[in-house]
Amino acid sequence: MKDIVAIVLAAGRGTRMNSDIPKVLHRIFGKPIISYVLGSLRESGVADIITVAGFGSDKLRETVDTRIVIQKKLLGSGDAVASATGALGKYEGDVVVICGDTPLVSANTIRELIAKHRASGASATLTTAVLKDPMEYGRIVRSEDGRITKIVEEIKAELHEKAINEVNVGTYCFKSRDLFDALGQVKRDPKKGESFLTDTVEILRRAGKSVESISIKDADEMIGINSRKDLARAASILKNRILDELMLSGVTIEDPATTTVYPDARIGRDTVIRPNTFIGPDVEIGKACSIGPFARITGNVRVGNEVIIGNFVELVRTVIDDGCRVKHHTYLGDTTLGRKVNIGAGTITANYDGKNKNKTVIEDGAFIGVGSVLIAPIRIGKAATVGAGCVVLRGNDVPSGKTVVGVPARILEKRTGKGRRRTDEKRPVNIQR
Ligand code: UD1
Ligand code: MG
Repeated sequence: MKDIVAIVLAAGRGTRMNSDIPKVLHRIFGKPIISYVLGSLRESGVADIITVAGFGSDKLRETVDTRIVIQKKLLGSGDAVASATGALGKYEGDVVVICGDTPLVSANTIRELIAKHRASGASATLTTAVLKDPMEYGRIVRSEDGRITKIVEEIKAELHEKAINEVNVGTYCFKSRDLFDALGQVKRDPKKGESFLTDTVEILRRAGKSVESISIKDADEMIGINSRKDLARAASILKNRILDELMLSGVTIEDPATTTVYPDARIGRDTVIRPNTFIGPDVEIGKACSIGPFARITGNVRVGNEVIIGNFVELVRTVIDDGCRVKHHTYLGDTTLGRKVNIGAGTITANYDGKNKNKTVIEDGAFIGVGSVLIAPIRIGKAATVGAGCVVLRGNDVPSGKTVVGVPARILEKRTGKGRRRTDEKRPVNIQR
């Protein structure tokens, strides 16, 4: 989009978080709060973004890939916007201002805000929402004819203003010149010692400029993260959005209350997710699978179609082809399963030797007996069988079609008709002594 710059306010300490980490770097589903805001801005078509950093600015710099300006002293949201003056130079277009602590504001809302601002030609356009409990948010004050006259912050609000339940979301669009003219006139609040960005609204209106608004229907979108309770609430709202989308796309979630799926997961039609299942980042699951209950799948996992992942199974950095069964109490890490592999209850891949993570490969149709330990790196060949309770030592690959038993695992010696050993199976292959 042309002639649009966004300023993201992210300098605040986040006192109510009680933390050494800047507030906007606290994470929801593994991603910092601010990256949700940046994601929505970019999705709405705003490419030129300035982040205002202050408390913990070094940490912010490592995470945020936008232009960054530093607010030297944390003198409030008005001062924060003013600190972007230099970075804007002679720019005269529209400016979106958004709080870095409102991760659920959607790209659609930002698009709608900019469209309304441009269509109405207002000096400022606000985003508002109606809340049952407006506590802590700035209240939108309107005159009798419904026009916005000011935003009043909780600490300044009179009793009758506190009763207003239309609130400021903290996402605005301004004509840049009007914004900076008004900011020049904002006085610091004597109680808080801060200049409030929200005071610009009254200043603009008194100068005869128009202030418009859009209202968001989904009040959940506006939640601002000021405390860890807010963080948990936002995570739970986001979680439900993700689960709703999955259900609409044809995935059964048996118990949404106990199921967590990270935002980037892809899950195919007619897959059933059973209760108490956790699906973390970078996971892809195919069609018609059954997952859980109590499964934990996270970090670079690909699961094919018609696979069963049962209870108390943990998968990490693992690829599972179609038709596999991994039904109970199993850990597979850095593992690749071919088609139709059966993994017995209690199988563990020992992927970490104290220094490196090593790979396990189990080929098509292999059968791993219950309670086996597969010490990686190891390869179990096609249609091979690992007997119950085996410890298969590293490097002792099991050839296709063979059976190993025991601890350490050895190839099962088949007897010929006269009770003699077959020569090719006299000795175990590769057993380390
Ligand atoms: C702010 C709004 C309030 C709105 C609410 C929505 C003001 C004065 N009030 O209140 O009307 O309902 O957001 O969530 O803006 N910041 C800085 N530098 C500072 C102070 C704050 O960059 O010196 C940043 C913070 O990092 C934060 C944003 O500005 O991202 C808002 O500050 P915060 O303290 O969270 O304001 P609220 O009390 O939530
Ligand atoms: Mg806030």
